[in-house]
Amino acid sequence: MIKDTIKQILTKTESIGSEITVEGWVRTKRDTKEIAFIALNDGSCMGNLQVIAEKNNISEETLHRLTTGASCAVTGTLVESPAQGQAVELQASAIEVLGDCPSDYPLQKKRHSFEFLREIGHLRARTNTFGAVARVRNALTMAVHNFFQENEFFNVHTPLITASDTEGAGEMFQVTTLPFETFDSSRGIDYSRDFFGKKASLTVSGQLSAETYATAMGRVYTFGPTFRAENSNTSRHLAEFWMIEPEMSFCDINGNMDLAEDFLKYVLSYVLENCKEDMEFFNKFVQKGIIDDLKAVISSEFTRISYTKAIEDLETSGKTFEFPVSWGIDLASEHEKYLTEEVYKGPVIITDYPKDIKAFYMKLNDDGKTVRAMDVLVPRLGEIIGGSERENRHDVLLDKIKAMGLEPEDYWWYLDLRKFGSVPHAGFGLGFERLVQYATGMTNIRDVIPYARSAKNCEF
Ligand code: 4AD
Ligand code: MG
Repeated sequence: MIKDTIKQILTKTESIGSEITVEGWVRTKRDTKEIAFIALNDGSCMGNLQVIAEKNNISEETLHRLTTGASCAVTGTLVESPAQGQAVELQASAIEVLGDCPSDYPLQKKRHSFEFLREIGHLRARTNTFGAVARVRNALTMAVHNFFQENEFFNVHTPLITASDTEGAGEMFQVTTLPFETFDSSRGIDYSRDFFGKKASLTVSGQLSAETYATAMGRVYTFGPTFRAENSNTSRHLAEFWMIEPEMSFCDINGNMDLAEDFLKYVLSYVLENCKEDMEFFNKFVQKGIIDDLKAVISSEFTRISYTKAIEDLETSGKTFEFPVSWGIDLASEHEKYLTEEVYKGPVIITDYPKDIKAFYMKLNDDGKTVRAMDVLVPRLGEIIGGSERENRHDVLLDKIKAMGLEPEDYWWYLDLRKFGSVPHAGFGLGFERLVQYATGMTNIRDVIPYARSAKNCEF
């Protein structure tokens, strides 16, 4: 039988009086002359179960071994707690130490800096903050699937190894079995001898494969790892991150914006509803007021403006930006923050970007200069979603592939989707870690994924 977790036990007032066994790790121990109070945590929730160990029941030696971080199994009677803030506590009759925890255990203090905790990535999930992040991340995963399943999207598993660079930015990690030892730079690389018989890489996005299924099944979504070899050491970039990519046939940029807005509101509501204890922790200790902020976002209407309007806003702001503003530039994080935090005070969807700063697959507008791109920007973070209506005209797409210096032969199957029963379609990508950042208020993306991968950083 599966035993109850501490989360379940803490609310089980109907079990008061019964004998149970609980396993967990000691968070703290406080002694009086006759009693030791042990705060036991098993990771199932933020709260600890208070264990009352009377010294005439539990041996001196056992109590001595119950240091912070030690693991144990406690058997005893669940009783009503006289203490504030907890319904029940456990009156111990026997304690078995499962694993001692010597004094060089790094998590002795109550609070540690996130920088320090990054160096002990294998232990940090045992802290309140990282436990809460992991639980919120779990809830968001569930919310993502619920949202799409309720809206009749099919989940498709797109490949991680690919021969096409979706974003065309050349930031891919290569996958090869060619031996480095025998590599002779003067002779070039003969990819026909490589495992796949051609150059292959880890995917930067599942979009192109998702489009093949969307143009067969209508509405699909992917949710998987993506990889980018971009050397940007920022608080919002990872080399390995998870992305959610819905793709819809018979949908234009407006339907795509509606979906993105509904989706964000749904998953944020889900977390507020299902992770109350953890969200209160973030609200109090990590990002003050985040619960009210998220509630306001959920009941707001996202601002929708064109890129051209955004540039006007920035140019007339009277502010000096580190990266100067003019029509044609890619928006930098400082610009995105200004627009969301100071001008519109909430999420902003920006559409119709210049074609030269966006990927080849975005639908060209009639002006010949802009594409039907849509980025969703949020306060604190900037871009959280990037998407577009897709170019569904075969010849226009072919011209764009060529104009961007890509090889049409590499995209023959993608072009086929425009040859055989082409349909208007659209989709977007949400960076899952950015969503976890946004929902929790954690400022560094490396703290919302169990093991962050970034340039020069692949420990654990
Ligand atoms: O804007 P991006 O590059 O769009 C695409 O990849 C499209 N193929 C998506 C689509 O239309 N199906 O990336 C989408 C999102 C960004 O908005 C951002 O949230 C996240 O992915 N992202 C990253 N997150 C963490 N680390 C990185 N290096 C990221 N690069 C993008
Ligand atoms: Mg983008």
